[in-house]
Amino acid sequence: MRAVASGERGGEDEIVSRLRAAGCVFAEDEAALLIEQFADGADRDAAVARRVAGEPLEQILGWAEFAGLRVRVLPGVFVPRLRTAAILTAVDDLRERGELDLPAGALVVDLCCGTGALGVALRSRLPDAMIVAADVDPVAVRCARTNLPDVSVFQGDLFDALLPGFRREVALVVVNAPYVPTGEIARMPPEARDHEHHVALDGGADGLTLHRRIAREGAGWVRPGGVLLLETSRAQAEATQSFFTTTEWTTSLVLDEDVDGTVLVARRATRRAS
Ligand SMILES: C[S@@+](CC[C@H](N)C(=O)[O-])C[C@H]1O[C@@H](n2cnc3c(N)ncnc32)[C@H](O)[C@@H]1O
Repeated sequence: MRAVASGERGGEDEIVSRLRAAGCVFAEDEAALLIEQFADGADRDAAVARRVAGEPLEQILGWAEFAGLRVRVLPGVFVPRLRTAAILTAVDDLRERGELDLPAGALVVDLCCGTGALGVALRSRLPDAMIVAADVDPVAVRCARTNLPDVSVFQGDLFDALLPGFRREVALVVVNAPYVPTGEIARMPPEARDHEHHVALDGGADGLTLHRRIAREGAGWVRPGGVLLLETSRAQAEATQSFFTTTEWTTSLVLDEDVDGTVLVARRATRRAS
């Protein structure tokens, strides 16, 4: 078999040029990944064509890197974003300060799990916890089950997906629910707009429909003293926080400059106000 010279069709230079012309900012890195993954010329050409047409690299490769781990990504499923690692840093910081009590068997929920990336990353951090995951999208559930083969991944609407016995028993919820206002989806990059299921993006008219519901409904599932970590955006952070400022929760906001992530930390009141 003759090696493909880098300037020839299917060679590295040619792929970089095609990717660059299509607007891929990290054309060299992407070309290297596509070449490594697709050894066969026809497969490689098809993969490059998909990328040039705007499909997310991770959906073409079938995997994404998240927090140093490789996570399987099925077509249509939300590609884990770097900023979501801010939730993991928040978990680490809370534990370091002794503010997150997770005894062996503590129930941890990756809600709106998508690929299950957060659950995968938490498994190595919290090997003694009982981690479960849930999502409303059946393709996301299928994807998360491949990434978390030994974890229960439930399908359903927010907390309703969980077992009734989990009520007021959950020690930690990590959740990156959709928060893009419906009207802004059309202005998102085509990678998201055309290739991620809209249920993974659409946060309702003001983007905050799910955040309101999580604040209201989460109080019935998180145990007293338990913690809920919710990704939001800088612009929406105060509004997100306002939904939790009731007698049920105490809250703070974490801005993680390293990954440009914003996380609401909500702790469930230990006692109901009378
Ligand atoms: C922004 S994605 C985040 C996925 C994953 N947690 C991550 O960070 O990569 C939001 C996820 O929430 C799910 N979702 C949307 N509405 C939901 C609902 N009502 N109940 C459960 N999951 C929902 C979507 O299917 C999608 O997988």
